[in-house]
Amino acid sequence: PVPPDARIGSFRSGELVNADASAVDRRLFVDEELYRLEQERIFAKCWLFVGHESQLEANGSFLTTTMAEDPVLVVRDKAGKLRGYLNSCTHRGTKICRADSGRSSTFKCPYHGWTFNSEGALMSVPRLGQVYGENFDRSKHSLREVAKIDSIHGLIFATWDPAAPTLREYLGEMTFYLDLMLARMEGGTELLGGLHKWTIGVNWKIPAENFAGDHYHVPVTHGAGVEMGYRSQLSNDGYCIHTGNGHSIGSERGGAQQGHAVQTEYKGFMDNMRAQLVAKYGEKAAAFVPVGVGTIFPNLSFMDTARFRTFRVWHPRGVDKIEIHSCLIVDRALPEDLKREVRKRYSLAFGPSGIFEQDDGDVWQSIQDSMRGRIGRQGWLNYEMGVGREGPTVDRYGPPFVGSTSDILMTEANQRAYYRQWAKLMTEGDR
Ligand code: FES
Ligand code: FE
Repeated sequence: PVPPDARIGSFRSGELVNADASAVDRRLFVDEELYRLEQERIFAKCWLFVGHESQLEANGSFLTTTMAEDPVLVVRDKAGKLRGYLNSCTHRGTKICRADSGRSSTFKCPYHGWTFNSEGALMSVPRLGQVYGENFDRSKHSLREVAKIDSIHGLIFATWDPAAPTLREYLGEMTFYLDLMLARMEGGTELLGGLHKWTIGVNWKIPAENFAGDHYHVPVTHGAGVEMGYRSQLSNDGYCIHTGNGHSIGSERGGAQQGHAVQTEYKGFMDNMRAQLVAKYGEKAAAFVPVGVGTIFPNLSFMDTARFRTFRVWHPRGVDKIEIHSCLIVDRALPEDLKREVRKRYSLAFGPSGIFEQDDGDVWQSIQDSMRGRIGRQGWLNYEMGVGREGPTVDRYGPPFVGSTSDILMTEANQRAYYRQWAKLMTEGDR
């Protein structure tokens, strides 16, 4: 828990998040100072998702994205090594790459033409001798490179912090669930069909905490979708697991059996997948697939259902705005016609205009709207649901489960774990 009087910038931590994080101050979602501190203490420290390896298959391929608000260029260099750079020219800051993705061994700045290679080195400067003289040291003007970059089951993460733990240490017990989600079939996964990107007016933590496992909202926010039979009514049976470092998962019990509509189309494929899973992990873990929803702290969320698997980043764009980058991940082994089917199902539900995405976006933006004003930004939000019902997962369900879990699906245990981690990182920055 957060020490009662630790400081978070000019605030005391206890003013912002109470000891067990069952109450969170509204200013977390609207205060500009906190937003600025988050850039330093969270986004410049944590491992952040930057792409999927299937987007960078060939040596010399690249993609552009952001790490929080910082634009980054991610490349697979000539030797096949993944690298990440601030997408900003070391001359006067212009973005050196504007394309979303492609293949190139050099990046020429569109302002004055300084040109960098995929190892980040400044290769050429127009009229070098004439305008700078012969003593100009090109080696001092390499692109700013991320401190660490690594991948797990195709997901690429990077961090600006040289003192950060390894990616696997950072993910901790979440790797067990990533295994179940992404390494369940021979051949691994791929990102299908590029990214959906759109912007909504909400603080980045609101969708992140929703995906951490807010099952309470499903019957209400998504009531129409449930009534239309798009998904089954939710019971309170399930697992809410937090695996450390603010990461968490919420899973409906027997979620694998809830695929009804799709089960028929996918029967053969799903049976094959299940057989591989049982062979690899045993019956108990196999029954845990699909895994459910979750958030990897700070701003990567996922949803693994019987219909599709999506990973999405809530990129902050100011205290009250995010750019969502959402992608569809499929098993490479999935037959082409089923890939098309999965893509449709994903777009209908969770594409930018998807029925469930629209429901959520509408509610989230109304939260933000209600807290913009002088009065709305005062007071506390409530995260008490399920207090006292958490325990070690292994005790409850036995191996191979790891983490700390609640024996109910509708609980705010994961959100509390999320805000405890937020407060921990934000107070550490003051030391
Ligand atoms: Fe890039 Fe001048 S800003 S070459
Ligand atoms: Fe939702």
